[in-house]
Amino acid sequence: MTKKDTDIKAIQKLVIEAGKKARKETKGEPEPGLTKPIKWPVECLVGPGLEGAIACETKIGYVNGTKGWLIYRGYDIFDLCAYSTYEEVSYLLLHGEFPSKSQLASYKEKLVKYRSINDTKRYMMGFPIERMDAMSALRLGTNMMRQEFTYADQHLYKADVGKIISSDEDSIPMETVPMGEEKAIYEFKERRKKRRTPEDIDPTLQSPCGIESCYHLIAGVASVAAAVARLKQGRLPLEPDPELSHAGNFLYMMTGKRPTPLQERIMDISLILHADHGMNASTFAAMVVASTLSDIYLSVGSGIAALKGPLHGGANEQVLYMLEDIGKPEYVSTWVKRSLKEKQKIMGFGHRVYKSYDPRARVLGPLAGYLAKKDKENNTLFKTARKMEKEVVSALGEKKHIFPNVDFYSGIVYSCLGIRPELFTPIFAVSRVAGWTARVLEYLQHNRIFRPRAMYTGQFDEKYVPINKRKK
Ligand code: CMC
Repeated sequence: MTKKDTDIKAIQKLVIEAGKKARKETKGEPEPGLTKPIKWPVECLVGPGLEGAIACETKIGYVNGTKGWLIYRGYDIFDLCAYSTYEEVSYLLLHGEFPSKSQLASYKEKLVKYRSINDTKRYMMGFPIERMDAMSALRLGTNMMRQEFTYADQHLYKADVGKIISSDEDSIPMETVPMGEEKAIYEFKERRKKRRTPEDIDPTLQSPCGIESCYHLIAGVASVAAAVARLKQGRLPLEPDPELSHAGNFLYMMTGKRPTPLQERIMDISLILHADHGMNASTFAAMVVASTLSDIYLSVGSGIAALKGPLHGGANEQVLYMLEDIGKPEYVSTWVKRSLKEKQKIMGFGHRVYKSYDPRARVLGPLAGYLAKKDKENNTLFKTARKMEKEVVSALGEKKHIFPNVDFYSGIVYSCLGIRPELFTPIFAVSRVAGWTARVLEYLQHNRIFRPRAMYTGQFDEKYVPINKRKK
C-alpha cells in the first residue's frame, strides 16, 4: 500500500470511528413532533428569531438537535462522509435517490461542462474583486452566472448579441445599429423575438429555475469561488480540469496546484458535511426569495449573503483568527474566562438547533488533528482548539448546552490544505449550493409566498408636524 492509500484509509477509519462513537452516544428515536406530515394550520411554540416555527414539509434532510443527528434523504452523515462523494451526495439531495452508474456519469459530465464560466470570469475581471470581501465577490459572480446560463446556450441569441454589441460601431452605418437608449430597446426587442421562436433551444434552459440551473450552480459557484480566490491575489482565474473530481478541480482552480489524493478527499468530505442543514438562515433566505417566483440564481445569491454573517457561515474564518490571537494552549483558560465574563459569544460554539455535539464537528475535529500533525503551526492551532473545546464545554456544556459546531474545526482543516481564511466561508457556500437548490426546487412544487407577520407595538393617532415645527 502506498503512503497516499494509507492516508485515505486512515481518514476513512477516523470518520467511521467518529460515526460509531456518535451512534453509541446519541441512540434513540426521531422526534415524533418533527417527523410527520403537516396538517395546516400547524400549532407550534415560536420563539424570537422564528425559533421552533415550522415553515414547510421536506424530505431532503433532518437535523435532530437534541441527539446530534444529521441525515440527508435518510442517510446518516457519517456513512456519507465515509463512503460517498460530493457528486453523489449533491445528486442525492436534488433527486431524492443515489444515481445509478450511468446517471452518475452523465451528471458528472454536466458538472464538468458547467465548470467553465468563461463569460462570468470575464465580467468579474471588470470589478475590483481584490478590494471586495470574498463573499460579496462570490455573490456578484453567482448573479453573473445567471446571465451566462440564460444566454450562452441560446446560440441564436448569442449570434445576435455578437452582431450588435461586439461590432465596431464606428464602421457600421447609424441606421443599421441604433445607439444609446434606442440600442437598448432594440436589443431587448430582438432578444424577445428570438426567444419566442427557435425550436432548437433546450426547453430546460429557458427557465432559470429548473434542474439544469441547479447543476449549473453546483458546478459554477465552485469556479466562481476559485476565481475570487485567484483575483484577490492578483492572479488570473484558471481553466477547469475536466479530469478532476468536483472537490479536486475546486482545489486546483483555487490554488493552481493539482491536489494530492488526501487533499482531494479531505475537501470532498468537507463539501459533503456542509451540503445541507435544515432551515438554517441562508437556506431560509434562498427559499424566501424563490417563493416570490424570482429565480434560483438570485435565491442562491441571497443564500450567500446570509451565510456571510459571523453568526452563520462566517464563524469559520473568525475561529481561525481567534485561535491565532490566543496563540498557545497555555493562554486558553484566561482567554475563555475573560470572554465569558464579558458575555462575548465564542466563535465556533453553540447552535440554534444542536443542544448537543454537532455531528459535523465530530468528523472535522479528528480530520483537523490528523492533518495538523504534519505541520508545527497548524499543530499549535489544533492543540489550542482542543484545549478551548475542553474549557468552553466544561463552562457551558451542561449549563447552556453549548458545544463545538461545524465551524470550530473546519478552519484548521482548510488551513492545513493551505487555504487562506478569507476563503473559508466561500467553501461553505460552494458546498451548500446543493442544499439551497434542492430545497428551493422542493418548496416550489407546493409554493406559497413566505409572509410572516410582526406584532405592532408602535403608536397610533400621531399627528404630522411640519419639519420647522419639530422640537429636535
Ligand atoms: N459563546 C458563549 N455563549 C454562547 C454562545 C457562544 N458561542 N452561543 C450561545 N451562547 C449563550 C448565549 O449568551 C445565551 O446565554 P443566556 O441565555 O445566558 O443569555 C444562550 O447561550 C443562548 O444563546 P442565543 O444567542 O440565544 O442562541 P441562538 O440560538 O440565538 O444562537 C448561534 C445560535 C449559533 C448564533 C450562537 O450560538 C452563536 O452566536 N455562536 C457563535 C457563532 C457561531 O459559531 N456560529 C456558527 C453556527 S454553526 C454554522 C451554521 O450552520 O450557521
